[in-house]
Amino acid sequence: MWTKDSLKKVIEESLGDYLLIVASNREPYIHMHKKSNIICQRSAGGVVTALDPVMKACSGLWIAHGSGDADKKTVDKNDRLQVPPHDPRYTLHRVWLTKEEEDGYYYGFANEALWPLSHIAYTRPQFEESDWRMYETVNRKFADAILKEVGHKKAFVWIQDYHMALLPKFLKESAGNNIITAHFWHIPWPNPEVFRICPKRKEILEGLLANDLLGFHIRYHCENFIATVEKEIETRIDRERFSVIKGGHETLIRPFPISVDYEYIEHLANSKEAKDYQDSLKEEFLLNYDFIMLGLDRIDYTKGIPERLRALDRFLEKYPEYKGKFVFIQMGRLSRLHIPVYKNLNDEINALVEEINWKHSYEGWQPILFVRRHLAYPEVMAFCKLADICIVSPLHDGMNLVAKEYVSTRSDNSGALVLSQFTGSARELDGAVMINPYDTEEFAEKIKEAVSMDKNEARSRMVKMREQVSRNNIYRWAGKVLSELLRFEFKE
Ligand code: G6P
Repeated sequence: MWTKDSLKKVIEESLGDYLLIVASNREPYIHMHKKSNIICQRSAGGVVTALDPVMKACSGLWIAHGSGDADKKTVDKNDRLQVPPHDPRYTLHRVWLTKEEEDGYYYGFANEALWPLSHIAYTRPQFEESDWRMYETVNRKFADAILKEVGHKKAFVWIQDYHMALLPKFLKESAGNNIITAHFWHIPWPNPEVFRICPKRKEILEGLLANDLLGFHIRYHCENFIATVEKEIETRIDRERFSVIKGGHETLIRPFPISVDYEYIEHLANSKEAKDYQDSLKEEFLLNYDFIMLGLDRIDYTKGIPERLRALDRFLEKYPEYKGKFVFIQMGRLSRLHIPVYKNLNDEINALVEEINWKHSYEGWQPILFVRRHLAYPEVMAFCKLADICIVSPLHDGMNLVAKEYVSTRSDNSGALVLSQFTGSARELDGAVMINPYDTEEFAEKIKEAVSMDKNEARSRMVKMREQVSRNNIYRWAGKVLSELLRFEFKE
């Protein structure tokens, strides 16, 4: 079983004097002004949830965009600081972006082009030449920051996600044999027919093929990537080694299903802090019901939130006897609001909640509580502990860590997970009640199934899922990626 210590051991034994650098867009800790103080928040979201425990275990260097309004006030003259601030374990190097850069690179090419393109969630990707130029500029900025950190040393660089497709190429062009890179693509990779609409497909593929190792969550995405490469650029595919060779350089393609820090979550979920949060949540939302259902997402059109609300509506139409007996809490973290589809989605969810609540309201009771605010991590745990049923219904998701977080908190083996079959998690968590979020009728029936499931059956499903997540935890994911990465040798 992989643990924090076994991961540390792999790194200590194989890293030697070389540097280990992680690069991602989102920073793990963000400083903000609040009234006259500066506060520090741990960022939410998949990448940070997965990598923060890993970085704590191996005390590396993390390079990311400094996006908080008080970030500049908390770094040293080299733009670095130790994090977490109250218990320093590793170094964060912040990269500063101008408003135009953030607009074109993050909101534009990363989230209006690559995000919808990769998720195939029926939202048309927008390809703007000016966004692409900013994407290039920012990738170069990250390369410069990394090259400065590396100097004349040798480094393993672990790149994260779709914000950084050109970074490996820029690094290799400048640092030649001094840098070895692994890149993990945290979102799905679409099939070649979908990818071929991207005007910059060749540049993106060439950027990614500068990596030594390229990882996706599941084998299907690896296969989609290889099929895309085969269609788009001249390379040689080595089926035996599952690699792509371009201009004499080989990139290994591998599946690495990401996960969560099971042990830490379990511990945190049972902590006094999380219990106190549970008490205050019960008080705040008057949680006095037979059961509680929960949705916990970043507000994104890939997450299937309107589909979930429609299924709840249908559930109440079909089974009105449940009125007054439960509440469905939808926690939402607002994101990417400068992009019109995100703003429209937020408006759509507001309208749907209002409509469904009005339709089914009964003696002062309403079925849905929609709460939008940043949650501290122990508060997330408290929500999971309170929820008898957690509904995770993306239209398409590379993995989905909320599903795995929920399971990790259920130390008494109670609770049910309703899970979209279109998530990477569905391939591992077969104890979940599987749904197709597009099929409202079936989705409503599956909610009924979860609500009325026999306690013993629910228990045995949860035991199975917990066993799976505890074994395939975040240290295993990082351990697998890093063991493969650290096996590469620097050429003279
Ligand atoms: C999700 C995806 C990650 C991605 C993140 C970005 O969690 O699974 O791959 O990095 O969103 O979220 P952000 O709020 O940083 O745009």
